[in-house]
Amino acid sequence: VVIYVPCDAAAVAVGADRVAKAFVDGLARRGVEGRVVRNGSRGMVWLEPLVEVVTPAGRVGYGPVKPKDVEALLDGGLLDGAGHDLRLGDVEKIPFFAKQERFTFKRVGVTDPVSLDDYLAHGGYKGLERAIAIGPADTVEEVFNSGLRGRGGAGFPTGIKWRTVAACAPGKKYVVCNADEGDSGTFADRMIMEGDPFQLIEGMTIAGVAVGADMGYVYCRSEYPHAIAAMNKAIEAARKAGYLGSRVAGSDYDFDMQVRVGAGAYVCGEETSLLESLEGRRGLVRAKPPLPAHKGLFGKPTVINNVLSLAAVPFIMSEGAKAYADVGFGRSRGTMPIQLAGNVKYGGLYEIAFGVTLGELVEDVAGGTFTGRDVRAVQVGGPLGAYFPRSLFDTPFDYEAFAKRDGLIGHGGVVIFDDTVDMAKQARFAMEFCSVESCGKCTPCRIGSTRGVEVMDRIIAGVEREKNLAILEDLSHTMKLGSLCALGGFTPYPVMSALTHFPEDFGRGSMPLA
Ligand code: NAI
Ligand code: SF4
Repeated sequence: VVIYVPCDAAAVAVGADRVAKAFVDGLARRGVEGRVVRNGSRGMVWLEPLVEVVTPAGRVGYGPVKPKDVEALLDGGLLDGAGHDLRLGDVEKIPFFAKQERFTFKRVGVTDPVSLDDYLAHGGYKGLERAIAIGPADTVEEVFNSGLRGRGGAGFPTGIKWRTVAACAPGKKYVVCNADEGDSGTFADRMIMEGDPFQLIEGMTIAGVAVGADMGYVYCRSEYPHAIAAMNKAIEAARKAGYLGSRVAGSDYDFDMQVRVGAGAYVCGEETSLLESLEGRRGLVRAKPPLPAHKGLFGKPTVINNVLSLAAVPFIMSEGAKAYADVGFGRSRGTMPIQLAGNVKYGGLYEIAFGVTLGELVEDVAGGTFTGRDVRAVQVGGPLGAYFPRSLFDTPFDYEAFAKRDGLIGHGGVVIFDDTVDMAKQARFAMEFCSVESCGKCTPCRIGSTRGVEVMDRIIAGVEREKNLAILEDLSHTMKLGSLCALGGFTPYPVMSALTHFPEDFGRGSMPLA
């Protein structure tokens, strides 16, 4: 018998390691020949630890399984895929899962993440093979034609970024993967690194071949120890099998990579401060231009992409740009791994084509709040994203549609709040977050955010409210237009959206601001 128990940090946090051990011990005690495989998470976090048993009819799920359930499961028919009230049936038929379009996450939760054989058996390295076969220029064009846009949040066309680096004179170039996932309510990068690390390695290798870079770095936050371990194991296995190093996969291209661990500053997710940190200095934002594509790591042309952007590339290369571009909405092509979090009934990873509305995500997919109270606000795009009220639930998940409503989809984090949320406190939090995480390089952010916290405190205390609200608006305007990077520049989004859509929490009438 083969039993899958996730090794994803979300599953481990609720006891998956102990569940796995209980299965190993339980099988041994019964003299049953069996294997416990540690897979990634299927992304249905409320069902973790979600155990799956291989049966002739497919993989049958049970969850959430506690260590104390294991004996009863083993005695109660689990070995035949039957029995027990934790039985969920075919995991892929659970509505939350069945409605998804899994391009980037197709193997996550299915395979053993650190087994190269398993990766190859599930279509792995087909993308690299094709990139090698068609050559660098056509690979860049394929990525361009897929319509893939930067999944870190800015949505810049990946193909154009690659073209820029490819067009730089031959010489030392780098591929850097931004795995400093810092947005609140986001975990997709972590799930890829823990659940399908070879896919990221393959994506980076394809990027290297495409632009003429022979070295890659994954800059990962130190808060992700499981991801770092999985990445390192997978890199070692790939190198051993000839998929990294000189003449990758028997080709004429060289590419190798390493994981570098950051110290947890939010601003190190900003590409230029990430590069500073990678070079061994304090994570201080650099002025652009020069763009990293021209002058990036160690002053060399550098492709710097988010985990999700690079992890989307193997699918694009193996299935073709058209297969990716065929789904989506407007200029947002392909799928987005959306992360549902906060006060949520069914939280987790939901990969779907762009275009799904915020309301569908919150009400239908996530099932509303965990507390069962009404949803009042949804913050999309991390701590710098706007708060959306129910009246904007018809907004389709799309870069332009969100921007039109003064919001952003960012890295795809959706954090849900019920009707007990105090939006003035949330606005204060945004300013405080910015003041804590500011790198200090520019004045609007460094000083503005601290003054912003003070102004918010006066508003919350009811001191000269109208005057302080006017100061807050003015300050937000200055930060938005005068900050050097997105940290200071985007902090006004949560603040102003809270003020616009929830004026009553600021002691104002229910009329939105002009
Ligand atoms: P940006 O718009 O300045 O740049 C986007 C990317 O395109 C950068 O890599 C830039 O170097 C590149 N680029 C721009 N023009 C180019 C050209 N002509 N040729 C080649 N490359 C070019 O945005 P930025 O400041 O990099 O990112 C801001 C976004 O980051 C926000 O929208 C926010 O959603 C997101 N964000 C994500 C976080 C996360 O944890 N993933 C955390 C905080 C913010
Ligand atoms: Fe640093 Fe803030 Fe200025 Fe960005 S906006 S460069 S984080 S001080």
